[in-house]
Amino acid sequence: MISEPRHFAALAARLRWDADGIDLSADRRAWGTLEQGRRRRLTVLLAGFCVAEYQVAEELTPFEPAARDPATAAVFAAQRADERRHARLFDRVAMVILGAPGADARSRRQFVRALAPAPLLDLFEHELARAASALAVDPSCLADSISLYHLILEGVVLTAGELALLSELEDGSLPHLRQAIELVERDERWHVGFGLRCMLDLRPAPATVRRLLRAGELALQAWGAVIAPGIRSRVLAQHRRRLVAVGLLPAMRGHDVGGRAA
Ligand SMILES: [Fe+2]
Ligand SMILES: [Fe+2]
Repeated sequence: MISEPRHFAALAARLRWDADGIDLSADRRAWGTLEQGRRRRLTVLLAGFCVAEYQVAEELTPFEPAARDPATAAVFAAQRADERRHARLFDRVAMVILGAPGADARSRRQFVRALAPAPLLDLFEHELARAASALAVDPSCLADSISLYHLILEGVVLTAGELALLSELEDGSLPHLRQAIELVERDERWHVGFGLRCMLDLRPAPATVRRLLRAGELALQAWGAVIAPGIRSRVLAQHRRRLVAVGLLPAMRGHDVGGRAA
């Protein structure tokens, strides 16, 4: 059920796409016609992704040297190429859709940071950065780092954000942006699968595993009200199913997988 590293590398090569090849100009024109509340929700989500994708591309660097074998290291490298592509796409979204001023990606990111939820900035700019710094000096932190990066941030926080974006874009008002989000979501699915594969190999400490469910619920709150309750429940249920599927959690009969209490 869970693939070997070489399958993830092959999948990454097959799925590659061009972040500069998606023409967002018609979507920019349509943006101004959207209802205000919808535009506000989309702004929060897109601004969050602008920051998050930049951070995950940066903070993935120490994972590759910490990998236990060359095949796994190669998959981290392929994932990093994906994250750079995502960061480039969302920089274009910042420019074209959100109208971020600035001559470079850094200044545009400063502009959109002010539009993103503060708890989300904290998760990606501080919590993830701390985990990556710890991993850079101590490769034995790999299980903890993958738990945060792949299972919580990608598997819960970004997955919920992608589903919310796709729901907001469902009517085809901004078709090229929607297509771009679908491509990102497709990449993120294998990233999470790869993280689970790594966790199987690393056999994390029971304390790490116990924290994961509750950590997912808490991290998901970082988006605030832009994530609808239905998406929240769906993503947390999926989080639990993944942990059960790789044996990280016992299957719990009758447990409210999307519920408030862990
Ligand atoms: Fe990404
Ligand atoms: Fe990713």
